Formats: sequence, structure tokens, C-alpha cells
Amino acid sequence: MKTNWYREAAVYQIYPFSFMDSDNDGMGDIRGIISKLDYIRDLGIDAIWFSPLYVSPCKDFGYDVADYKAIDPKFGTMEDFDLLMDECGKRGIRVLMDMVLNHTSDQHPWFKEALADRNSPYRDYYIIREGKRKGRKLLPPTNWTSSFTGSAWQRIEGTDEFYLHLFAPEQPDLNWENPAVRDEIISILKFWLDKGVSGFRFDVFNMYSKVYPLRDDRSPVRFQKGTPYYVDGPRMHEFLNEMNEKALSLYDTYTVGESYIPDEEHAHRYIHEESGELDSIFDFEHFNSDNMLKFIPRPFDLRRFKKGLLEPQIRYHGTGWNTLVLENHDNPRSVCRFGIDTAKYRYEAATFLALVTFLGWGTPFIYQGEELGLTNTDFRSMDDLKDPVSHFVFDMMTGKLHIPARTAFSLIRRGARDHARTPMQWDGTVNGGFNAGAEPWQCVNPDYRQINAAADMNAEKSVYRFYQKLLALRKSEPVLLHGHTVEYDPDNRNIIAYSRLYEGKRMLIVGNFSGRTHRYRLPLDFDLSDLEIAFSNYDGQSNDRVIKLRPYEAILFREL
Ligand code: GLC
Ligand code: MG
Repeated sequence: MKTNWYREAAVYQIYPFSFMDSDNDGMGDIRGIISKLDYIRDLGIDAIWFSPLYVSPCKDFGYDVADYKAIDPKFGTMEDFDLLMDECGKRGIRVLMDMVLNHTSDQHPWFKEALADRNSPYRDYYIIREGKRKGRKLLPPTNWTSSFTGSAWQRIEGTDEFYLHLFAPEQPDLNWENPAVRDEIISILKFWLDKGVSGFRFDVFNMYSKVYPLRDDRSPVRFQKGTPYYVDGPRMHEFLNEMNEKALSLYDTYTVGESYIPDEEHAHRYIHEESGELDSIFDFEHFNSDNMLKFIPRPFDLRRFKKGLLEPQIRYHGTGWNTLVLENHDNPRSVCRFGIDTAKYRYEAATFLALVTFLGWGTPFIYQGEELGLTNTDFRSMDDLKDPVSHFVFDMMTGKLHIPARTAFSLIRRGARDHARTPMQWDGTVNGGFNAGAEPWQCVNPDYRQINAAADMNAEKSVYRFYQKLLALRKSEPVLLHGHTVEYDPDNRNIIAYSRLYEGKRMLIVGNFSGRTHRYRLPLDFDLSDLEIAFSNYDGQSNDRVIKLRPYEAILFREL
């Protein structure tokens, strides 16, 4: 049944709000997506992962689902979705859906029922507990914090009870201990699989299982309090097995779980071929190399980046499958982080990052606009930021932490998720061609006049065409698809170097992750006379043992 098609595939992530607005109402939509499918196919994409398209009040832009089996009217109708499936199918593109199953929206009928009637069976769909009395004060049931700041518990109005929300208060956590909840989930998965989708991305999956009875986190940490009791919980493997047995394994699926600071051993088990759980996870350890999302800037640490990028390739090879990621809807643009001088090296850095990342072992995930080297937006004030998390963090910084508002804004702006969520830049016309001129829900990056798909595809130095070649090359080289990874010079602070080996054939990837020229001695276990350059983002490299790598120069060597 399982063909492992994903092992040769490249996946493209679409954030529906911002991809293409066909009806000019300021919001991206399904018809808009359909109109751009040729662009995606021509890039060399085999599957699209859609960020949530379901009915949602959008307190977290679709990651708060109010109906898992219906399309939100702002994106279109179920008929539009069926047409999208057909149009993808015609182009040989598979569809992956985003499954947000750790929590629902507070507007989901289950949650509404649960609050409306104490005796409703839906009450046990969520995690509701009495608060703790301390003198005259009523405290939340535990001291856990939400990933979005503040207590993870929300008091239910007019009662002494609270419900758990590991994200926004409008995202109550589901109670996975309840078999009825798990049955609902199986039925949701089957609903979409029967429609022909090829798999799922599971949102923060490793928080499904909590440790019972619920208790305080007594460790001294200030943020992420409670993680030992809700990350990689005791029933995780059992729950994943059940999903697999009752739904996933009955179809030819691919699954990727978005993990939250996973423990190494659990991570390996989730994706182990024999575990019957997931095919792969997103790990994101390399994103910690500049601390961007934690809002406190730290100088870029290449050694940490390399470790995060390459270690999973070494660890999981032969027992599972890996993913390769630089961007998604939760991170700033990759050419604007990792210490890159974007104004000077946008093209070089975009192509460098693609080469050294996506020629590793695993399925590449490319986020909309990454293939054009899109940049961060110069947001002017908190009003420009639409992501609720930007505002939660602002409130925490200016409140509890007493950080002045202007400082808080500039810290938030650096790492804001909003950067990835501005409308796609298709051409140099009004709103970057995102729509016909209606004000988009989120501002277009004003640099669209210079940086857009139409301009890039015709430019002498085109990021899009570089991606096209790279993805085609990857698919044509079994070494790149399946070879295992060996790292060289992990302590080098400027150069990333690793080889791939498969059935006696080798390739070598070398890149200068800096804005200065650096010399690099090619590994001695390669014979110079046997090496040819198979692909690079610069022309004219010498044929010496010690090569001079220009800013963000990256090379793929083939051993003859
Ligand atoms: C995941 C999503 C993110 C969302 C969060 C809560 O991290 O990628 O966008 O805010 O889960 O669902
Ligand atoms: Mg629209």
C-alpha cells in the first residue's frame, strides 16, 4: 500500500490568506491558488501543504478550527476545494492538509456545548478543572504557561473552573484521553483521505498527551512552564499508532509532525520505520542558531545551525525519514536572518541557503515566496502586525517585563511571524498582483516593485530558476535523494561542508556562510582529479585543493 512517494518529492507550503486573491476581497482564496498551480508545477513541486482552509474565527489565522470538515467561506466552497484537488491532480501535484488537533477554536460546537451544559458529553472533550483556592484568591489548576505567554488556563466565566489552552485562550486543548475525541479525529482524517488528499502535517502533535493527574511544574524555568507534563507525554506513541492503524495506513499517505522541543529519543521513535507512527517530523533545531523567534537577538552561530541541520540526517538515516526546512508561516524570511546582510547579498544568500539545505537528506519544504528570495517587511508600528502572538509578546514585554514600547516593538519586529504572512509578490502591479487593488488583510511588502515573481523569473540572476534547477537535479541523483550524510569541519565558523554517499557514489556540498571571502581546503578523502562542479550559485571556481569561496558561494561537487 505504502509507496514512499514522498522520498523523491518536494513540498510547497501555501498560506492561503496570502497567496492569491481572485475575488479582490483582500484575502487569498482557493480560486486564486488554482490560478497559480502552473507556477508551482513548473518550479518542480510534487505536493502542496495547505495551511488550514477550514472554518475558523481566525484568532490564530486558521490554527483555531471551528469545523474540520468544511472550507471557510472566505477561502471559497467545498466545490472550489474539489476543483483544486482535480487541478492539482492534473498537474501531478499531491495535496497535504494541515491538521490542528491539539486544540480547537473556542467557537467549535463541541466547546460551545461543553460550556453551555455541565452535563454535556462534550465537556469531557476538553480539559476542565477546578481552580485552586489560596485564601481568598482563586488560582489556575496548575502553574503552566501558554506558548503564547501568560497562564495556560482560562477561567470559565461565572464558575470556579478553568479550561486548558496551551496556545491562545481561544484555542482550548482537546482531551485526547477521551476515546470519543480520538474517534472524531479518525473520522476527520478519513473524511479528507476519502477526498483524495495524500497526507497531513500535524500541528504541534507532540502535545496531544498530558501527564495525569495534572500538576505544577516545580522547576525554576520562567517560560514554557509545564512542558515536562505536556510535551512527548506518556500516551503519545499509543495515540499515533491508533491514528495510523485506523486511518493513515489504510491509504498511501505521507505524514509530517510539527514537533515542539522534542526529546531526541521520542523524536526518533515517532519516525522510526518500525514504530507505525509518523513518516517524519519538523525539528527546527537549526532555527535556534540566531534565537530569532525568542525575540531576544543573539549573534548567528553557524556551528549550531550546522548541528541542527545535519545531525538529524545522520541520526535518522536508515531508520526513518527527514525533512529540510528554512521557512514557514511562523518564521521571518530566511534571507533576513542568520546574520545575512540582505541588502547586499539577497540573491547569493537565497541560492546559498537553498543549495546547502535542500541537497541534504530529506524532503524539502519550500514556503511560498522563498523560491523568490522574498524579504522581511519594514513594519512601522504594532498596528502593522496582524499576528496575535506579536501582540501577546508586546503586552508581556511592556507589562510584566517593563520594556519600553519602542524597544519592545523593535525586538518583536525582527522575529515576527508577520514577515512570512504578507501577500505573495507576483508582479510589479498594484498590491504586487496579489489582487486587483482592494486593501489586503495584511500590507504588501513595498519592495514588491523590485522583488516579484515576474521580475525574478526574467532576471539574469533568478532565484526561481535556481530552485527549478536544484529541484530537478535532486530528483535525478539517487545520491542526493537517498545517500547518507557525512559532515566535515563541524567547528569551522564560516564554512558548511558535507558529503552524501550512496551505493559507492559520492557528492560533496561546500558553502561559505558569510559575507566575506574565505579559503577552504577540500576534504582530503576526495581526489581532486575526480571532482567536477555539478551545480553552483557562482561561475568560475578554480580547480585547486584550497578554494576561495566568495560571499555565500555554494558548490555541489560530483565525484567521477
Ligand atoms: C503551530 C502553528 C502555528 C500556530 C500554533 C498553534 O506552531 O504552526 O502557526 O500558531 O501551532 O496552533
Ligand atoms: Mg479573496
